[in-house]
Formats: sequence, structure tokens, C-alpha cells
Amino acid sequence: MRRLLDDPRLGRSHPEPDRAARTGESALFGGPLGDYDTEDADHARMRSLLQPHFTPRRIRALRPRVEALATALLDELARHGPPADLVEALAVPLPVLVICELLGVPYADRDRFRAWTRDVSDVRDRARSERGLAGLFGYGQQLVARKRAQPGDDVISGLCASCSTTARPIMTGPPSLIPNGSRSPSPAVSHLSFGHGARYCIGAPLARIELQAVFSGLVPHFPAMRLAEPAGQLTVNRDTLAGGLTRLPVTW
Ligand code: HEM
Repeated sequence: MRRLLDDPRLGRSHPEPDRAARTGESALFGGPLGDYDTEDADHARMRSLLQPHFTPRRIRALRPRVEALATALLDELARHGPPADLVEALAVPLPVLVICELLGVPYADRDRFRAWTRDVSDVRDRARSERGLAGLFGYGQQLVARKRAQPGDDVISGLCASCSTTARPIMTGPPSLIPNGSRSPSPAVSHLSFGHGARYCIGAPLARIELQAVFSGLVPHFPAMRLAEPAGQLTVNRDTLAGGLTRLPVTW
């Protein structure tokens, strides 16, 4: 697997997109994406624009917000009382709330944002996935306009600012001028959950913080938590990109 992920012959694009194999009906990940002739340069440019927003310092600064979001969901779970579904109560909402935080999506828009992310990650229903993607793109454009007018301390505001200053020479310069920071070092750990090589998950440090926040809150809050159904009855969700369990019924 590692060798495949390092192999430059494999990529996200295809010289003849209509003839490329598909892995599913997801609008974003089901088939080829991007321009075959410029894929490497486009990827390096995107990565170098995003990387400064995912430095250890930036991610550390987000930790208190991530912890507050996780605590709020755990408090809500306690109020709701047993039994509960941990997928619905925690695993689905937390990452979306953290992304909203990162991008600076206002609270009022978060339900809509969540609905689009749900639609876009459908891997069986292409029309639904495309609707979700269109929703996210349209909303993204509005958000950019809003952040240009009223910048905040979020990634979109940061990208708007860097696009008008430092990023412009990077974007218009030859690919060889793109800083090499766009390539992540291979992780020391041996698992592949966050991928490997040039496309190693840029959000891995943030994802780790989310996982730490959840588990360090869950155990002290609910020391008696246990499965509410036999483990053999749990099912895996094959309809969405992220997969995982369909439901995780627990009681305490
Ligand atoms: C537990 C949570 C997560 C898992 C398991 C995960 C997993 C992955 C994997 C396997 C890849 C590689 C895909 C490939 O090889 O094509 C990837 C790429 C990526 N991830 Fe994550 N990810 C997680 C969370 C996040 C978060 C929180 C963010 C950002 C907020 C993020 C942003 C990205 C981006 C931008 C890429 C593309 C990198 C590139 O193409 O250079 N991920 N992720």
C-alpha cells in the first residue's frame, strides 16, 4: 500500500476522465478529479497554501475550542440520558463543528453546512452527492466574499489575505518555486489511517486533538458507559465516504 501511495504513476486525475474507473457515486471522490496535465503542480500549490494553517502552533491554538465543542456535545449527551447513539451524538457532529470553527462558518449556518456535508459524502446516490457539493461550493463562495469584507481569525480569512499578498507569486510562479514544505514528511507511526506520502492527511494533527478531546472527556463523564446492543449486531455504513458504524448504541 505504501509503495502504491508513493508511486508517481498514481494520482487523482485521468487523461480521459469519462473512461476512468470509478469507486462509487461520490461527486468528490467517486472518480477522477482535476486536470491530468497540471495535477502535481496544482496539488503542490494547494498544499503550500493550506500548510501554514495546519502548523503545530495553529493546531495547538485550536485545542481549547475543540475541547469546548467536545464538552458541549458530552454535556448534551448527559442531558439526553441513556440510551444514546454515539455516532449521531458525537462522531458525526464533532468533526463538522470543528471544520466550521476552522473555516469560520457562523453558528447560524452550521446546520445547513452539516446537511451538505452529509449529502456530499453519499457514495451511492450521485445526484444527492452532487447537490451537496454544489451547496458547499456555493456557500464557500459566499463565505469568501463575507470574509474578504470582514476578516476573522479563520482559515478562509487567512487564505483571502495570503492570496492577495504572498500567495500570488507562488501561484503564478513556475512549480519549481513552490516551497518544498508542501510535501509532508512520512509519519513515524506505521498505520495508514491518515494516508501516506505526498497526500498524507494535512488535518491529522487536528484529527488527533479531536480524538483526544472525545476520549479524555468520555471516560470521566460516563465511567459506566457500555454497548446497549450485542457487538455482533453492529453494522458498518457502506453508504457514506467515511464509513464507520451505522449506529453505536450505548447506555450507562
Ligand atoms: C480521523 C480523521 C481523519 C482521517 C481518518 C483522515 C484521513 C485522510 C486520508 C487517508 C487522507 C489521504 C487521502 C489520499 O491519499 O488521497 C487524507 C487527506 C487529507 N485530509 Fe484527512 N483525515 C482526517 C481528518 C482530517 C481533517 C480534520 C482535515 C482538515 C480539517 C483533513 C484534511 C485533509 C486534506 C486537505 C487532505 C488532502 C491532502 C492532500 O491531498 O495533500 N483531514 N485524510
